[in-house]
Amino acid sequence: MPRAYIIILLDEEISRTPNHDAGIAAMSISMVAYDEGLGSCILGAVEREKLREILKVPEFLAVALVVALGYPAENPVVEPVKDGDIKYWLDENGVLHVPKRNLKDIVRWNE
Ligand SMILES: Cc1cc2nc3c(=O)[nH]c(=O)nc-3n(C[C@H](O)[C@H](O)[C@H](O)COP(=O)(O)O)c2cc1C
Repeated sequence: MPRAYIIILLDEEISRTPNHDAGIAAMSISMVAYDEGLGSCILGAVEREKLREILKVPEFLAVALVVALGYPAENPVVEPVKDGDIKYWLDENGVLHVPKRNLKDIVRWNE
């Protein structure tokens, strides 16, 4: 259960690349959180209008992303993707397995 949420707001009148900026901010927050021993999850699937109402976000600011923060309760294991399946799974001991594609499978080189 997250202990805190950071809502990243965009003033779209002052940047022409607002979504890039929000992504950079979210990533920076996650990395600093990790360095401080916190877990994080970047959330894009949020109820923006509800958040706006609850937090009284003025109209000129757009709700871009949310970063949930908390003390990690799991020790997930990163492992290579098998048979193209990237779904996370829990084993019988409650360990979360997180399949990741290999770098060589996602990097493309010019001729
Ligand atoms: C822009 C963006 C939006 C995301 N939105 C969600 C979300 O709404 N809900 C969710 O569970 N994960 C969301 N994720 C995925 C998690 O933040 C996280 O990146 C993902 O679980 C991969 O983490 P892991 O591979 O280190 O476990 C989003 C990621 C990004 C980059």
